[in-house]
Amino acid sequence: MSAVTARRIDGTALASALRARVAAAAADLRARAGIVPGLAAVLVGADAASEVYVRSKGKAAEAAGLRSFTHRLAADAAPAALLDLVHRLVADEAVDGILVQLPLPRQFDASAVIAAIAPAKDVDGFHVVNAGLLVTGRSDQALVPATPQGCMMLLGSVHERLAGLDAVVVGRSNIVGKPVASLLLAADCTVTIAHSRTCDLETKCRNADILVAAVGRAGFVRGAWIKPGATVIDVGINRVAGADGRARLVGDVDHDEARAVAGAITPVPGGVGPMTIACLLRNTVIAACRRRGIAVPAVI
Ligand code: GUN
Repeated sequence: MSAVTARRIDGTALASALRARVAAAAADLRARAGIVPGLAAVLVGADAASEVYVRSKGKAAEAAGLRSFTHRLAADAAPAALLDLVHRLVADEAVDGILVQLPLPRQFDASAVIAAIAPAKDVDGFHVVNAGLLVTGRSDQALVPATPQGCMMLLGSVHERLAGLDAVVVGRSNIVGKPVASLLLAADCTVTIAHSRTCDLETKCRNADILVAAVGRAGFVRGAWIKPGATVIDVGINRVAGADGRARLVGDVDHDEARAVAGAITPVPGGVGPMTIACLLRNTVIAACRRRGIAVPAVI
């Protein structure tokens, strides 16, 4: 195998810089208008990964000078109890952003819960109004989902221009695959969305100048699927047992193989994950400004 090693795209450093800019914007809003943007996170049940994510989001919000509210419901809570909580958060003046951590336990209809969030407070960008704005090319008016937005910022750190590049997105979820495809299309890439029924996935991936892997399967994308010099964004966060028996996080891409072929690649951990949280905080500040008709600080 070739000794060429792909450039490592440092999501931790980029996210830390973005969080500092969000903190500066929040400090400015507080000084100029007495506004402290508030982020409300709702956790239903006790899924270990969701617990970690919600805690990290709350801590990051506070560290950036935002207000953080965490609401917990039992795994066997009634759907009406969650809808009632969401309605109260929509009406709460101190809350600018609402996120309901997914997945929800079986008795809940996630789309009904997301529909209950006011689009202006939907900092996950999952509401059909925000999804519709994004897909119709009006992302400047939407709240854009954090992980796809983070992917675009990571790509922006490698590519000055994306126009004309072939992008393949592996995965078609509403959280990542579809919105990242819309953002790539808005950046004038030629976009293919591949999924579990795609024929000859390897060949399609090998055509990609930009490959975004968001399938949730450890090491699914192999080195031989990658076009030499391509930029690879690995959205996967999969917990697997390491050689020492301890759990470790790996992406959807086989990194040892991919590093020898790709031009640039995001690590796992330390790639997309930190950007997701930073973009969520950014969305909360954007939501706080838009709701009050205040200009969004240019710094973010
Ligand atoms: N579960 C996995 N990713 C996300 C996310 O970005 N937001 C929410 N609310 N739940 C998730």
